[in-house]
Amino acid sequence: LSRAKFPKGFLFGTATSAYQVEGMADKDGRGPSIWDEFVKIPGIVANNATGEVSVDQYHRYKEDVDIMARMNFDAYRFSISWSRIFPDGTGKVNWKGVAYYNRLINYLLERGITPYANLYHYDLPLALEKKYMGLLSHQVVKDFADYADFCFKTFGDRVKNWMTFNEPRVVAALGYDNGFFAPGRCSKAFGNCTAGNSATEPYIVAHNLILSHAAAVQRYRQKYQDKQKGRIGILLDFVWYEPLTRSKADNYAAQRARDFHVGWFLHPIVYGEYPKTIQNIVGNRLPKFTTEEVKMVKGSIDFVGINQYTTYYMFDPHLAKPKDLGYQQDWNAGFAYAKNGIPIGPRANSYWLYNVPWGMYKALMYIKERYGNPTVILSENGMDDPGNVTLPKALQDTTRINFYKGYLTQLKKAVDDGANVVGYFAWSLLDNFEWRLGYTSRFGIVYVDFSNLKRYPKMSAYWYKQLLKRNKD
Ligand code: GCO
Repeated sequence: LSRAKFPKGFLFGTATSAYQVEGMADKDGRGPSIWDEFVKIPGIVANNATGEVSVDQYHRYKEDVDIMARMNFDAYRFSISWSRIFPDGTGKVNWKGVAYYNRLINYLLERGITPYANLYHYDLPLALEKKYMGLLSHQVVKDFADYADFCFKTFGDRVKNWMTFNEPRVVAALGYDNGFFAPGRCSKAFGNCTAGNSATEPYIVAHNLILSHAAAVQRYRQKYQDKQKGRIGILLDFVWYEPLTRSKADNYAAQRARDFHVGWFLHPIVYGEYPKTIQNIVGNRLPKFTTEEVKMVKGSIDFVGINQYTTYYMFDPHLAKPKDLGYQQDWNAGFAYAKNGIPIGPRANSYWLYNVPWGMYKALMYIKERYGNPTVILSENGMDDPGNVTLPKALQDTTRINFYKGYLTQLKKAVDDGANVVGYFAWSLLDNFEWRLGYTSRFGIVYVDFSNLKRYPKMSAYWYKQLLKRNKD
């Protein structure tokens, strides 16, 4: 495996998100986001950790960009914190926040790293949650488009690759179906949520996310794209669902799962409507697009980012009819992590993450076939170290190297078989704030000593350096 084996111009980078790496969460004029509020709930995050300081990229961005350059990466995918730009979500600009992203973008360019800017990574301004219940309200569509517009206008002379939302499915499902992520809403039956309705809210939120995405893309295309010559897309998480057996019922269960997972967003964006499975199962709980909205949504990507980590077996649970309890119940599909006692792959630290490289191949070929071979960026892939890792042993991350070898081999195979994948981003550059797991899960190719925030590249970082070596150096 080497850079030369990939098509000319294929791009390699690493990815992070604002709340997970920046720190300075309540400083330099940043307003709180729904995550700043969520992490305050006692016991919600491992060790009650927060992103207040995180790995302080706000101050250490130069050091981080230098590491990327040293490891021969071409690009960096970061996210912009909406409430750092607009502390109240709309209206007054926080120029100190603008100055930070200018510093970051300029330094990336100075070091020859292409910036990939994502506008939303789970961190809705808390002010909008309070004002109109955030993503549950159609008002968010205009506010998001205004924020996006400001970013295009301000940074678009240098940023040529834009992403509107990261993993809208996770936002809708974890935020509103099981309450696992901010703002932590769900039906009572699912846990400790104090408010919410898992049967309706995930669909309303997803709908508003799709419209917000499309409205931002419309602004970009109408006002900036011709002049700035950039491209814009969305980032979708995609678990590959493999039927457990060859039975018709299991095949259909797996297909339902794919539709409810990636089709929920990609289908409207490519074809202008939700997948038929979702329409049939969700019925009148599913919001509808007006004719005007269909026009705006359909075709609203120049590329699609796919975050691909893992694969599960799916089977038909032989339920008569799913009860209308919530989004996950609507799938009416069973998950399995093993077949005939054989695990689908080795597990990482995170309970949801099994190392199954062939699933990436299948996922990419599926996107190619079902969605007309769109331009794809594999926008996240990686694993957290199994077990309790401390220095210096943490730097010998051979498990991670094997993980990347396996997945990149399958990615290359998909490219060779015609999938239009043009770039790949490892998650993540650094160990960072891993949501509910706080700092107990390490996805970085660079180790961070959380006691003093010193950075130590792991063996996997040097493995990338070797892989990405250009012929001339
Ligand atoms: C995302 C992910 C990341 C996670 C990574 C590891 O939404 O892009 O949730 O933020 O840190 O996927 O779990």
